[in-house]
This record gives sequence, structure tokens and C-alpha cells, in this order.
Amino acid sequence: MRTPVLAGNWKMYKSAHEASAFLNELVPLVRDSRHREVVVCPPFVALPAAVSAARGSGIDVGAQDVFWLKEGAYTGEISAPMLLAIGCQWVIIGHSERREYFGETDETVFKKTVAAIESGLKPIVCVGERLEEREAGQTEDVLAAQFEGGLARLAPDQMARIVIAYEPVWAIGTGRTATPEMASAAHKFIRTQVHKSFGAEIADTCRILYGGSVKPDNIAALMAQDDIDGALVGGASLDAKSFASIVHYA
Ligand code: PGA
Repeated sequence: MRTPVLAGNWKMYKSAHEASAFLNELVPLVRDSRHREVVVCPPFVALPAAVSAARGSGIDVGAQDVFWLKEGAYTGEISAPMLLAIGCQWVIIGHSERREYFGETDETVFKKTVAAIESGLKPIVCVGERLEEREAGQTEDVLAAQFEGGLARLAPDQMARIVIAYEPVWAIGTGRTATPEMASAAHKFIRTQVHKSFGAEIADTCRILYGGSVKPDNIAALMAQDDIDGALVGGASLDAKSFASIVHYA
């Protein structure tokens, strides 16, 4: 059984003060959510406030990015041990916005993923095709290339510790969700890639989240698909009630 993960990606929204207020509202709303992992990913500067407000609640806190080296002359960067030291447990890696605006590549995704795992953070590694790639019938090629470049080179014990998020770029922030069938087909394809490189056991236990316009009213249909093991939620995770109803999808 794969324990579902419901993760909120706040992107560049919410101050430290707003993160505390959000968690004070969310904690009682998700207190009785069993058999699922709940994660919120605030901006870096709000992480300590989020960790402190989430303490003892069972809600985990994650960052939205990480650098691959532990320390050094890398102005502006934050390392995995630094995140771990403030109580962060997860980190999103290779989000399409980072690939599009900040030069993230499959190679940097790979390096960041290894660094995160070695420090003890749990990576949520994002893959997904753009609209023009889907329309050109290249979805599987893109997913296979992202998997090959970013994940297939991990050692099996490293692969066993990551969560993958399938986020079709055309569905992010657009209100245009992939249908449960489209998402399911992509998830099955990704699981086949994991199987090919790492074998049945790791493929069976690997959690693959869907992301892209997940809302309280479409989460249940997505989660009803066998190969969808949770969600990475942007916009709808910024409101505690909306995120809580996503957590309580069934
Ligand atoms: P969205 O974002 O839910 O606002 O579409 C998802 C994401 O970018 O992770």
C-alpha cells in the first residue's frame, strides 16, 4: 500500500506571519486525517515559522528548491543540511517554473535530488510535458527523457526514497486539469520507467503525485485512479479550508 501524499506548493506567496496563521487554521482541520501524509511548502523565509506552527500536528514542512552543495561561495543559495537543520523534511525539486525561469535542467534536478537524499530530506521530483509537446504527441518522450536525465541514474536505495510529481505544464495554474484518465496514463507510463530501471518492488512502492489545477472538486476523481498516489497542489493549497478538503478527498 502506498500512503497518499497531499502536498501544498505555496510558490512565492505568504510571509512568515501568514504561514503561522495558515497553519493555526489548518492543524485542527486535518487532525483526524489518517493514512495520508500532509506537507506544506512555503517560501524559504517562512519555513521556520511554518515548522514551529506545525510542530506536533503531523503536518510536514518542505522547501520549494535546494542547492546541491552543502556550503560555499554560492550567493543566494540554500543547502539541504540548512533546510534539515530548521526542521524541514521535504523539498520540491525541478518544478516546471524552476525549469522555465531559473535554468533548471535534468542534470541539476539529478544533483539536487542526490544532495537532498544524502542529507535526509525527502525529494518531490517534478516532471511533465508542455502543451506543444502534448499536442505533438511527445508526452511519453518528454517524460522518458526527464526520467532518464534526472532519476534513472540514482542508486536503487536513493530511488526508493523519492516521490515523483507528474505536473503537465499546461495544467499548472490554468484551471485546466488533466482528466483522471490522462493523468492515469502518464502515471502508468512513469511507473513503467521506474520498473524498467529499478525493478518491480521500487516501482510498486514509488509514490507518484499529480499536480496541475487540483481543486477540492476534482481531487476525488484523480485519487480514484490506481496509479495516482497523491497531489502537489498550488493555488488551492493557499487557503486552509480548501487545502483541508483536498486532504480529506474521500
Ligand atoms: P496549481 O499548481 O495547482 O496552481 O495548478 C500546481 C503546481 O505548480 O505545483
